[in-house]
Amino acid sequence: MKVHIYRDKAQAGQASALLLAAKIIENPDCVLGMATGSTPLPTYESLVELYNQGIIDFGRVRTFNLDEYVGISRSHEQSYFRFMFDNLFSKINIKPENVAVPNPVSANLQDDCLSYDAAIKAAGGIDIQVLGIGNNGHIAFNEPGRTFTFATHIVELTENTIEANKRFFSSIDDVPKRAITMGIGSIMQAKEIVMIATGEAKAEAVKAMIDGQIDPQCPASILQLHPAVTVFLDEGAAALLSR
Ligand code: F6R
Repeated sequence: MKVHIYRDKAQAGQASALLLAAKIIENPDCVLGMATGSTPLPTYESLVELYNQGIIDFGRVRTFNLDEYVGISRSHEQSYFRFMFDNLFSKINIKPENVAVPNPVSANLQDDCLSYDAAIKAAGGIDIQVLGIGNNGHIAFNEPGRTFTFATHIVELTENTIEANKRFFSSIDDVPKRAITMGIGSIMQAKEIVMIATGEAKAEAVKAMIDGQIDPQCPASILQLHPAVTVFLDEGAAALLSR
């Protein structure tokens, strides 16, 4: 893992966007793995800026999102589909047919999980995957547990995650309890990974991810086995690392 520590989240976002932009310049047909949540917002803002400056072009880029809540419509303010359009896709020239976010209201979620992984494979795999980390060490919605789950699957969200995400909903009862998520294998098959973590609330999870043992209790710790991970931190998220 290459670990870079920046002054604040804006700088970490800018730096991670530069790495993604370099990949897009190098390969205009690249396949990006996208994350939602508050962490990648500065990254997406910087990507939009680079696009507006004419430095990067999304005309041939394809994307796959990591995860989506189950049971809320795509137009719901908190759906990850809507998040991606509001914060990135509507601001760049990506083609709507080139973006994939798991379907939250599918009649057959199990089949959708299989076809999501098949679609990633058919696209040639993910060239570079953006990740955030939950304060419990989750990546995508792979929650701490006894084992790592390989493929895209349906997950029951932990109380910790429901609690952390309630800030986006009017009440905790409105937070969906299930999600569809890329599995650890789907993530580990990405050719390259950009992990972004900012804020002191992430410091413990970041320490476990980088300095801890590889353990499904901290799903992000599996990234120690990936050959090409670049971690972008701010001072807060890096606070507990032995340097
Ligand atoms: C979102 C995702 C989650 C988040 C994580 C951190 O697509 O996969 O794993 O990256 O929950 O969320 P924030 O950035 O809101 O702290």
